[in-house]
Amino acid sequence: AFTNRIFSGIQPSGDLHLGNYLGAIRRFVPLQDTHECIYCVVDMHAITVWQDPEELRRATRELTAAYLAAGIDPKRSIIFNQSRVHQHAELAWVFNCVARIGWMNRMTQFKDKAGKNSENVSLGLLAYPSLMAADILVYKATHVPVGDDQKQHLELTRDIAAKFNNDYAASIRAEGLEPEFFPLTEPLIAGPATRIMSLRDGSKKMSKSDPSDQSRISLLDDADAISKKIKRATTDPEPLPSEVEGLKGRAEADNLVGIYAALADRTKAEVLAEYGGQGWGVFKPALADLAVAVLAPMADEMRRLLADPATIDGILAEGAERARPIAQATMKDVRRIVGF
Ligand code: ADP
Ligand code: NA
Repeated sequence: AFTNRIFSGIQPSGDLHLGNYLGAIRRFVPLQDTHECIYCVVDMHAITVWQDPEELRRATRELTAAYLAAGIDPKRSIIFNQSRVHQHAELAWVFNCVARIGWMNRMTQFKDKAGKNSENVSLGLLAYPSLMAADILVYKATHVPVGDDQKQHLELTRDIAAKFNNDYAASIRAEGLEPEFFPLTEPLIAGPATRIMSLRDGSKKMSKSDPSDQSRISLLDDADAISKKIKRATTDPEPLPSEVEGLKGRAEADNLVGIYAALADRTKAEVLAEYGGQGWGVFKPALADLAVAVLAPMADEMRRLLADPATIDGILAEGAERARPIAQATMKDVRRIVGF
């Protein structure tokens, strides 16, 4: 009953990095050939932790520039920021009343972000997955391309859709709507870069919130910075194995090979077929050259786009105009189903 529709979003919460690019943005581009795509700048998610307002506006434009520079075409795909389409917030409230607090308390990302301070974080941080479910389901999206870290949130999105369809089954029927009113959305998590790790510590994921900027490659880094960070990345002293099996227990080596594979659109096995037996003195410079070749032109294009903020704002406004009618149609039904 559902046509294939892609939705994904990224928070405009500072330093966009290689993990966001390889785990998400880069994978958004080819999906435009096969699916209807909606790519969102989730500014309402960003404020679940404190954001300086001017910085939020800047980061919103920076992420939009990254989408465009990576090859997302605003004529084919919808690019917009979440806060402009009010139906996200409206559906999130309904979902807050469908989802259970226990479901939210079990989310590992919440536990990580709240730390020991879980009584003194925003209520929004706890409810974050409910808003994420609304982002996806207000468009009845069937597939969500994301990194591995979002798997648990996607499961929760399915739980919320199923509970809504079930709790309101009689009303959905009475309104003459499909019993599976909300789809059970599937994540698209595949390829060699579903979880890029810190360049300094192979046990931590590369993240915007890591205090060390040496741990991540930022999408606005210049060639020199990219190269230096890769050459200084923590590794063991062993040469590269010739087969993927040999990467087991070698988190840092696995990470760098995965980054190479993703940037080259190859598999890890193909990369190891070429570099197996080589030491870091050979592999790191090759990886640095490849990363610079892919990322530096993108950074230049981002800077060019960011010099003209009015055009970026226009693209976001136009995207919201296209997203809104889809979201409105869903909410019109939801309001009747719920009894508003
Ligand atoms: P962050 O985790 O850096 O705050 P977001 O939560 O906004 O970024 O995530 C945006 C997208 O980037 C999601 O699809 C997420 O899965 C992906 N992502 C974030 N970090 C990584 C990583 N280290 N490796 C792969 N994908 C990642
Ligand atoms: Na994340």
